[in-house]
Amino acid sequence: MSRGRDKLAPWIPSTKEVIVEALRIANVKSSDKLYDLGAGDGRVAIIAARDFGAKCVAVEIDERLCGVIYSTVKYYGLMDRVGILCRDFLSIRIDDATVVYMYLYKSINELLANKLEKELGLGARIVTIDFPIPGWQPIRIRRLVDRTGLARTVFLYIIGASNPRALVKHITPVSRDILVRMGIGENIEDKGIAGTKDKAEETSMD
Ligand SMILES: C[S@@+](CC[C@H](N)C(=O)[O-])C[C@H]1O[C@@H](n2cnc3c(N)ncnc32)[C@H](O)[C@@H]1O
Repeated sequence: MSRGRDKLAPWIPSTKEVIVEALRIANVKSSDKLYDLGAGDGRVAIIAARDFGAKCVAVEIDERLCGVIYSTVKYYGLMDRVGILCRDFLSIRIDDATVVYMYLYKSINELLANKLEKELGLGARIVTIDFPIPGWQPIRIRRLVDRTGLARTVFLYIIGASNPRALVKHITPVSRDILVRMGIGENIEDKGIAGTKDKAEETSMD
Protein backbone atom coordinates (compact mmCIF):
# COMPACT_ATOMS: atom_id res chain seq x y z
CA MET A 1 0.00 0.00 0.00
CA SER A 2 1.30 3.47 -0.86
CA ARG A 3 1.88 5.68 2.19
CA GLY A 4 0.12 8.78 0.82
CA ARG A 5 1.09 10.98 3.77
CA ASP A 6 4.75 10.68 2.77
CA LYS A 7 4.18 11.44 -0.87
CA LEU A 8 5.69 14.89 -1.15
CA ALA A 9 5.20 15.49 -4.87
CA PRO A 10 2.89 14.08 -7.56
CA TRP A 11 4.09 11.96 -10.43
CA ILE A 12 4.93 14.21 -13.39
CA PRO A 13 7.43 12.46 -15.65
CA SER A 14 10.52 14.20 -17.05
CA THR A 15 10.61 14.16 -20.84
CA LYS A 16 13.40 12.21 -22.52
CA GLU A 17 15.31 15.24 -23.79
CA VAL A 18 15.31 16.81 -20.32
CA ILE A 19 16.66 13.59 -18.81
CA VAL A 20 19.38 13.22 -21.45
CA GLU A 21 20.42 16.88 -21.07
CA ALA A 22 20.53 16.58 -17.27
CA LEU A 23 22.62 13.40 -17.44
CA ARG A 24 24.98 15.04 -19.95
CA ILE A 25 25.41 18.14 -17.82
CA ALA A 26 26.14 15.93 -14.81
CA ASN A 27 28.65 14.03 -16.96
CA VAL A 28 27.15 10.67 -15.99
CA LYS A 29 29.35 7.70 -16.87
CA SER A 30 29.71 4.00 -16.15
CA SER A 31 31.64 4.58 -12.92
CA ASP A 32 28.71 6.56 -11.45
CA LYS A 33 25.99 5.52 -9.07
CA LEU A 34 22.89 7.60 -9.66
CA TYR A 35 19.92 7.90 -7.32
CA ASP A 36 16.63 9.24 -8.65
CA LEU A 37 14.80 10.53 -5.59
CA GLY A 38 11.15 10.10 -6.50
CA ALA A 39 11.62 7.90 -9.54
CA GLY A 40 8.08 7.79 -10.98
CA ASP A 41 8.03 5.08 -13.66
CA GLY A 42 11.84 4.72 -13.47
CA ARG A 43 12.65 6.35 -16.81
CA VAL A 44 15.59 8.38 -15.46
CA ALA A 45 17.30 5.32 -13.96
CA ILE A 46 16.58 3.28 -17.08
CA ILE A 47 18.08 5.89 -19.44
CA ALA A 48 21.06 6.48 -17.13
CA ALA A 49 21.76 2.73 -16.96
CA ARG A 50 20.98 1.81 -20.56
CA ASP A 51 22.48 4.81 -22.40
CA PHE A 52 25.11 6.11 -19.96
CA GLY A 53 26.15 2.80 -18.34
CA ALA A 54 25.61 4.05 -14.77
CA LYS A 55 24.50 1.96 -11.82
CA CYS A 56 21.24 3.38 -10.57
CA VAL A 57 18.83 3.30 -7.68
CA ALA A 58 15.23 4.28 -8.35
CA VAL A 59 13.63 5.44 -5.11
CA GLU A 60 9.84 5.65 -5.27
CA ILE A 61 7.22 5.65 -2.54
CA ASP A 62 4.23 4.73 -4.69
CA GLU A 63 3.97 0.94 -4.88
CA ARG A 64 2.02 0.99 -8.12
CA LEU A 65 4.85 2.96 -9.75
CA CYS A 66 7.41 0.62 -8.16
CA GLY A 67 5.64 -2.23 -9.98
CA VAL A 68 5.96 -0.32 -13.26
CA ILE A 69 9.68 0.31 -12.63
CA TYR A 70 10.23 -3.37 -11.86
CA SER A 71 8.53 -4.53 -15.11
CA THR A 72 10.37 -1.97 -17.27
CA VAL A 73 13.76 -2.70 -15.74
CA LYS A 74 13.14 -6.40 -16.33
CA TYR A 75 11.96 -5.76 -19.90
CA TYR A 76 15.21 -3.91 -20.71
CA GLY A 77 17.33 -6.56 -18.96
CA LEU A 78 18.77 -3.98 -16.55
CA MET A 79 18.22 -5.84 -13.29
CA ASP A 80 21.97 -5.86 -12.61
CA ARG A 81 22.27 -2.09 -13.09
CA VAL A 82 19.07 -0.68 -11.60
CA GLY A 83 18.06 -1.22 -8.00
CA ILE A 84 14.54 -0.33 -6.86
CA LEU A 85 13.79 1.00 -3.40
CA CYS A 86 10.07 1.28 -2.81
CA ARG A 87 10.56 3.65 0.12
CA ASP A 88 10.33 7.23 1.34
CA PHE A 89 13.49 8.97 0.09
CA LEU A 90 13.83 10.72 3.44
CA SER A 91 14.28 7.35 5.14
CA ILE A 92 17.12 5.89 3.03
CA ARG A 93 20.90 6.47 3.01
CA ILE A 94 22.42 7.84 -0.17
CA ASP A 95 26.11 7.88 0.88
CA ASP A 96 27.23 5.88 -2.14
CA ALA A 97 25.59 8.17 -4.71
CA THR A 98 27.87 10.09 -7.05
CA VAL A 99 24.93 11.65 -8.89
CA VAL A 100 21.46 12.51 -7.59
CA TYR A 101 18.52 13.42 -9.83
CA MET A 102 15.58 15.31 -8.36
CA TYR A 103 12.45 16.46 -10.13
CA LEU A 104 10.64 17.75 -7.06
CA TYR A 105 9.33 21.01 -5.65
CA LYS A 106 11.62 23.77 -4.39
CA SER A 107 10.40 23.20 -0.81
CA ILE A 108 11.28 19.48 -1.08
CA ASN A 109 14.70 20.34 -2.52
CA GLU A 110 15.19 22.55 0.51
CA LEU A 111 14.08 19.72 2.80
CA LEU A 112 16.57 17.36 1.13
CA ALA A 113 19.51 19.83 1.07
CA ASN A 114 20.64 18.95 4.57
CA LYS A 115 20.56 15.22 3.80
CA LEU A 116 22.53 15.72 0.58
CA GLU A 117 25.11 17.82 2.40
CA LYS A 118 25.48 15.27 5.21
CA GLU A 119 25.54 12.07 3.20
CA LEU A 120 27.16 12.83 -0.16
CA GLY A 121 30.91 13.00 -0.74
CA LEU A 122 32.76 16.03 -2.07
CA GLY A 123 32.34 16.31 -5.82
CA ALA A 124 29.01 14.46 -5.96
CA ARG A 125 26.71 16.04 -8.56
CA ILE A 126 23.07 16.85 -8.11
CA VAL A 127 20.75 17.76 -10.96
CA THR A 128 17.38 19.32 -10.23
CA ILE A 129 14.70 19.95 -12.80
CA ASP A 130 12.78 23.24 -12.95
CA PHE A 131 13.32 24.06 -9.26
CA PRO A 132 16.61 25.13 -7.64
CA ILE A 133 17.98 24.12 -4.25
CA PRO A 134 17.42 27.25 -2.14
CA GLY A 135 20.64 28.69 -0.75
CA TRP A 136 22.94 26.61 -2.96
CA GLN A 137 24.97 27.94 -5.85
CA PRO A 138 24.27 26.21 -9.18
CA ILE A 139 27.39 25.45 -11.19
CA ARG A 140 25.41 25.40 -14.42
CA ILE A 141 21.91 26.35 -15.42
CA ARG A 142 20.63 25.03 -18.71
CA ARG A 143 17.36 26.10 -20.25
CA LEU A 144 15.65 24.17 -23.01
CA VAL A 145 12.26 23.73 -24.59
CA ASP A 146 11.06 20.15 -24.53
CA ARG A 147 9.01 18.38 -27.18
CA THR A 148 5.78 19.40 -25.45
CA GLY A 149 6.78 23.05 -26.01
CA LEU A 150 7.38 23.71 -22.32
CA ALA A 151 10.38 25.68 -21.12
CA ARG A 152 12.49 23.57 -18.77
CA THR A 153 15.45 24.38 -16.57
CA VAL A 154 18.17 22.00 -15.45
CA PHE A 155 20.31 23.05 -12.46
CA LEU A 156 23.65 21.38 -11.74
CA TYR A 157 25.11 21.47 -8.22
CA ILE A 158 28.40 20.01 -6.99
CA ILE A 159 28.94 19.16 -3.34
CA GLY A 160 31.63 21.44 -1.94
CA ALA A 161 31.45 24.03 -4.72
CA SER A 162 27.73 24.74 -4.49
CA ASN A 163 27.52 24.51 -0.72
CA PRO A 164 30.91 25.43 0.80
CA ARG A 165 29.67 24.43 4.28
CA ALA A 166 30.18 20.83 3.09
CA LEU A 167 33.95 21.50 2.97
CA VAL A 168 34.08 22.07 6.70
CA LYS A 169 33.50 18.43 7.64
CA HIS A 170 36.44 17.39 5.44
CA ILE A 171 39.11 19.55 7.05
CA THR A 172 40.89 18.75 10.30
CA PRO A 173 40.04 20.73 13.46
CA VAL A 174 43.52 22.33 13.38
CA SER A 175 43.24 23.54 9.81
CA ARG A 176 39.70 24.68 10.50
CA ASP A 177 41.01 26.70 13.42
CA ILE A 178 43.68 28.28 11.24
CA LEU A 179 41.15 29.06 8.53
CA VAL A 180 38.78 30.63 11.04
CA ARG A 181 41.61 32.72 12.56
CA MET A 182 42.51 33.88 9.05
CA GLY A 183 38.86 34.76 8.54
CA ILE A 184 38.49 32.16 5.79
CA GLY A 185 36.68 29.53 7.83
CA GLU A 186 33.86 31.93 8.51
CA ASN A 187 33.63 32.57 4.80
CA ILE A 188 33.48 28.87 4.11
CA GLU A 189 30.79 28.27 6.67
CA ASP A 190 28.65 31.32 6.34
CA LYS A 191 29.19 33.19 3.15
CA GLY A 192 29.82 30.68 0.39
CA ILE A 193 32.39 31.03 -2.36
CA ALA A 194 32.28 34.59 -3.60
CA GLY A 195 32.14 35.40 -7.26
CA THR A 196 30.60 32.20 -8.61
CA LYS A 197 27.03 33.43 -8.82
CA ASP A 198 27.09 35.19 -12.16
CA LYS A 199 29.06 32.52 -13.94
CA ALA A 200 26.43 29.81 -13.73
CA GLU A 201 23.80 31.13 -16.06
CA GLU A 202 23.95 29.54 -19.47
CA THR A 203 20.89 29.81 -21.59
CA SER A 204 20.13 28.19 -24.87
CA MET A 205 16.97 27.13 -26.55
CA ASP A 206 17.04 23.72 -28.26
C1 LIG B 1 7.68 14.87 -10.40
S1 LIG B 1 7.77 13.12 -10.21
C2 LIG B 1 9.35 12.78 -10.93
C3 LIG B 1 9.49 11.38 -11.49
C4 LIG B 1 10.83 11.06 -12.14
N1 LIG B 1 11.94 11.42 -11.28
C5 LIG B 1 10.98 11.78 -13.45
O1 LIG B 1 11.68 12.80 -13.46
O2 LIG B 1 10.39 11.34 -14.45
C6 LIG B 1 8.03 12.95 -8.43
C7 LIG B 1 7.95 11.52 -7.93
O3 LIG B 1 8.34 11.52 -6.54
C8 LIG B 1 7.59 10.51 -5.87
N2 LIG B 1 7.63 10.82 -4.43
C9 LIG B 1 6.97 11.81 -3.78
N3 LIG B 1 7.28 11.80 -2.48
C10 LIG B 1 8.16 10.78 -2.29
C11 LIG B 1 8.85 10.29 -1.14
N4 LIG B 1 8.69 10.84 0.07
N5 LIG B 1 9.70 9.24 -1.31
C12 LIG B 1 9.87 8.67 -2.54
N6 LIG B 1 9.22 9.10 -3.66
C13 LIG B 1 8.39 10.15 -3.55
C14 LIG B 1 6.20 10.63 -6.50
O4 LIG B 1 5.42 9.47 -6.30
C15 LIG B 1 6.57 10.89 -7.98
O5 LIG B 1 6.62 9.70 -8.69
